[in-house]
Amino acid sequence: MVKLSFWKEGRILVDPCCGSGTIPIEAALIGRNIAPGLSRKFISEDWDNIPESIWKEERKSAFEAIRHDADIQIFASDIDPRAIAAAEDNAMEAGVDDCISFGVMDISRFKMPDKKGVVVITNPPYGERIGEEKEIQKIYGAFKNLALDDPTWSFFVITADQNFEKLVFAKPADRRRKLYNGRIETCYYQFHGQK
Ligand SMILES: C[S@@+](CC[C@H](N)C(=O)[O-])C[C@H]1O[C@@H](n2cnc3c(N)ncnc32)[C@H](O)[C@@H]1O
Repeated sequence: MVKLSFWKEGRILVDPCCGSGTIPIEAALIGRNIAPGLSRKFISEDWDNIPESIWKEERKSAFEAIRHDADIQIFASDIDPRAIAAAEDNAMEAGVDDCISFGVMDISRFKMPDKKGVVVITNPPYGERIGEEKEIQKIYGAFKNLALDDPTWSFFVITADQNFEKLVFAKPADRRRKLYNGRIETCYYQFHGQK
């Protein structure tokens, strides 16, 4: 999802429904050029046909390739304080806690005035649970306000709600991609902001 978006070093990335932090953490890992799985052990490390020296060399070069000085600015928030606590732990474990600002916040209070070209990548609730309808309307209202506030912002939203485009942006997305989130069919809607 991050790689399908416009986001790159130097642009602000926002996930206002970040849950346990998957999107901001993955983005920070990509931005810093941290190889996936760098800190974990692989089963193939026990295979006789791959000498230990190769693992050592490859790990060394992957660590050397990390861009500690990359200009990464990520803002991640969620209404649920337990989700944010988990996201902070996960970011620390991944070694990217210094480039993500986490906060407990209702999306309807989210503001970032005067910032141009912000990229929002997020996975809001789908509204499949009974009683969630009102909350979804509130979240969609907040998306609308953010989109109207500044036409330079871009929105990349994964949701199973097939009415998302119509209800929030009142226009078709610039790009769409069907994706499965587990067994749930979802769509990744991509709305490009003005250049
Ligand atoms: C589908 S989950 C996101 C999962 C996330 N990508 C992850 O890595 O865990 C949707 C999130 O939206 C949050 N949420 C629900 N209502 C919200 C609101 N009004 N403002 C901000 N976040 C909200 C929920 O707490 C939940 O964590």
